[in-house]
Amino acid sequence: MTGTPLCYFVLAAIISIASAQYVPPYTEECRSGMYPPQGPTFKGAVTWYTVDLDLPPSQRWTALITDKKTELAEMVQTIKDLADAFVPSGKLIDLVDKALPLMVDTLPHPFNEEIKGIATASGVPLGEVVLFNIFYEVFTVCTSLVAEDSTGNLIHARNLDFGLFLGWDMKNKSWVISEKLKPLVVNIEFVRNNHTVFKSTNFAGYVGMLTGIRPHAFTLTMNERFSLDGGYIGIVEWILGKRDGMWMSFLTRSVLENATSYDEAKKLLSQTKLLAPAYFILGGNQSGQGCVITRSRVLSLDIWEIDVKQGRWYVLETNYDHWKEPLFLDDRRTPAMKCMNQTTQNNISIKTVYDILSTKPVLNKLTTYTTLMEVSKGKLESYIRDCPNPCMPW
Ligand SMILES: *[C@@H]1O[C@H](CO)[C@@H](O)[C@H](O)[C@H]1NC(C)=O
Ligand SMILES: *[C@@H]1O[C@H](CO)[C@@H](O)[C@H](O)[C@H]1NC(C)=O
Ligand SMILES: *[C@@H]1O[C@H](CO)[C@@H](O)[C@H](O)[C@H]1NC(C)=O
Ligand SMILES: *[C@@H]1O[C@H](CO)[C@@H](O)[C@H](O)[C@H]1NC(C)=O
Ligand SMILES: *[C@@H]1O[C@H](CO)[C@@H](O)[C@H](O)[C@H]1NC(C)=O
Ligand SMILES: *[C@@H]1O[C@H](CO)[C@@H](O)[C@H](O)[C@H]1NC(C)=O
Repeated sequence: MTGTPLCYFVLAAIISIASAQYVPPYTEECRSGMYPPQGPTFKGAVTWYTVDLDLPPSQRWTALITDKKTELAEMVQTIKDLADAFVPSGKLIDLVDKALPLMVDTLPHPFNEEIKGIATASGVPLGEVVLFNIFYEVFTVCTSLVAEDSTGNLIHARNLDFGLFLGWDMKNKSWVISEKLKPLVVNIEFVRNNHTVFKSTNFAGYVGMLTGIRPHAFTLTMNERFSLDGGYIGIVEWILGKRDGMWMSFLTRSVLENATSYDEAKKLLSQTKLLAPAYFILGGNQSGQGCVITRSRVLSLDIWEIDVKQGRWYVLETNYDHWKEPLFLDDRRTPAMKCMNQTTQNNISIKTVYDILSTKPVLNKLTTYTTLMEVSKGKLESYIRDCPNPCMPW
């Protein structure tokens, strides 16, 4: 693809979409009987690793990265190819290699040391590992939900959809980056004093968190919020030296690592100043504890909570404020809610939630993994996904 302008890929994707809208099987009736995962939408299981928080930050990731070195190098090469397509002659990557290593020391502890350790263990240049870590803050579109069953048990689940606009492969009808990410998906158990502190599904090489559980206490996922009130200006400001907000996925990591209850997590997620807007989807460990926190950079704009008495037995978030209509080209919310409503509170379970997250277009070409969490059992399970054609690009 070297030499092909990125806009070409974007255009190709938009054309596919425009025609997709009118061809029926891109959306489908709510699926059933998908669990346990099998068949063409299930690409594989996710391997477990342990990260020991008692080790110095620079050594925590060594074992995992040593194992995933090849996949990480391939991913980085793909990013370079895309960057070359966008700005030919390797100038963009030159800049990344020269400028971003300087940025690592501006990042808070322990993230700065962990990123350096990952660069050492993988042999990938430091600037490119920094890029990889920034990158997820920017291109993630997702579906997350927290539901309460009729016994008060909480289920938290998500599809992680990643790679929007990053190279549409016309021949394979797939997103280049989304495909390269699938081999990097790992489950991690973070331990301290030999005890599990939290568990997460993550991409190898990434030190922030998008999906995690603190067993028996709370569950947390983060979704991108595309918004005009701040956008990515905070990230640019950070690079330029104004550093008073927190990286979103560093906050989720700190909360999973150090908050001990739903209320403490909720407070930190709604009150910490951020670099960019975000949605935090948080589940607790008892009836009524589930919410979507809609964040601007400085404040929490809204906290939308489960309220079973009012008939709200679940909250579900994609990438649009819940009080507004989703973009008509990207409505995963209506189909997901339709299936939730059809399932009913009496029948909600890990199994039926997996069915809902397997229904197109909730499942789409960007979907990298599906995670299912049950706080009362301390359980997190994840599955790598595929969306066989015909399937919506997002
Ligand atoms: C396209 O699909 C083929 C077969 O599934 C695979 O071997 C190839 O690596 C894919 N190409 C890309 C760029 O993902
Ligand atoms: C952790 O547990 C394992 C087995 O349960 C034990 O062999 C090891 O010594 C323990 N390590 C520490 C630091 O307690
Ligand atoms: C969690 O708290 C410990 C102790 O205060 C601190 O050393 C560590 O850096 C914190 N973790 C994160 C990810 O912020
Ligand atoms: C819920 O979390 C709180 C705070 O961590 C804890 O004290 C309580 O025991 C937990 N309840 C259950 C049922 O796990
Ligand atoms: C699902 O049910 C909720 C609560 O009754 C309702 O507000 C929402 O409009 C329904 N959505 C769909 C897509 O059926
Ligand atoms: C949902 O649950 C009700 C009883 O709670 C049962 O009668 C019904 O068959 C269930 N529906 C499905 C699709 O499992």
